[in-house]
Amino acid sequence: MRQTPRSVVLVSGASSGIGNACATYLSKKGHAVYGTSRDPGARARRADEFFELLTVEVRDDESVRSAVDEVLSREKRLDVLVCSAGIGVAGAVEETALEDGLRQIDVNFMGVVRMVRAALPWMRVHGGSIFVLGSLAGRYGVPFQAYYSASKRALQGFVESLRMELVGFPVRVALIEPVHIRTGFYAARMVCGLAEDSPYAANGRRAIRSMEESEQLGSDPVLVARKISRLVRARHLRARYSVGPWLVRFGLALRQLLPYCILERLIMAHYSIDARNGDR
Ligand SMILES: NC(=O)c1ccc[n+]([C@@H]2O[C@H](COP(=O)([O-])OP(=O)(O)OC[C@H]3O[C@@H](n4cnc5c(N)ncnc54)[C@H](OP(=O)(O)O)[C@@H]3O)[C@@H](O)[C@H]2O)c1
Repeated sequence: MRQTPRSVVLVSGASSGIGNACATYLSKKGHAVYGTSRDPGARARRADEFFELLTVEVRDDESVRSAVDEVLSREKRLDVLVCSAGIGVAGAVEETALEDGLRQIDVNFMGVVRMVRAALPWMRVHGGSIFVLGSLAGRYGVPFQAYYSASKRALQGFVESLRMELVGFPVRVALIEPVHIRTGFYAARMVCGLAEDSPYAANGRRAIRSMEESEQLGSDPVLVARKISRLVRARHLRARYSVGPWLVRFGLALRQLLPYCILERLIMAHYSIDARNGDR
């Protein structure tokens, strides 16, 4: 006989990476999990996955609404929403076509807004928890990821505002900031401009190379899944949680104590940004 699932969970961007790890982990924990992908058929289900993928394009209101309706009509409830769908657009601001910048904001920011707006009417009445995947790139601008940083900074403001709007309603919201998690994100990243003759080529290429190098050393996405699983059961949710190796998080916490001018230099050094802009 089928046991009553502990929670009904919807995870956007569950075909790979962090979303996939969350959906897999939470379903193994006994929750009834639905994931989303733009093209569920393109991906064979792994043996350890116990969740269904619904078709969702987070840039499309109707697509998002009908997935939430589908979960509600099948399960009669929706307790947890994890917004993990996201993309990365890298390159110099000047060389990134506006439509690519808009796509970045539309997927990463408005995509979350659409998911949250679709889930809220039910959750505001019956209760629920919403986890939004932010990034440290939303706390500190990252060179050659200006649109990505902007999309994640927007999410930070969105989550902070939403939490206060929802005071008195049984909905909890938190921003989850993963640090260096090894996923398909980087392979899927779109790089704009930075051709051989670009004035930004030297710094831009070095910055992207340095992102790729730290990404290869990243942690398993199950780290994020475990954190969210614990938070699902927690009594209170803070506004945000960073998730990653403790040494990296400790270093980041120390950095927050620094004046911004010093922090900026450290970030530039980390991404090999050279004021002379030369030496490819
Ligand atoms: N990995 C890290 O170190 C890291 C660090 C900080 C923040 N994050 C954030 O964590 C989230 C997940 O990233 P990840 O590393 O797990 O990346 P990933 O492996 O590339 O997964 C991204 C997911 O988003 C979905 N997606 C992309 N565009 C979509 C769209 N237009 N509509 C619907 N779904 C879409 C993809 O599904 P389909 O292609 O199947 O549609 C995929 O399942 C992102 O928001 C990212 O910014 C990641």
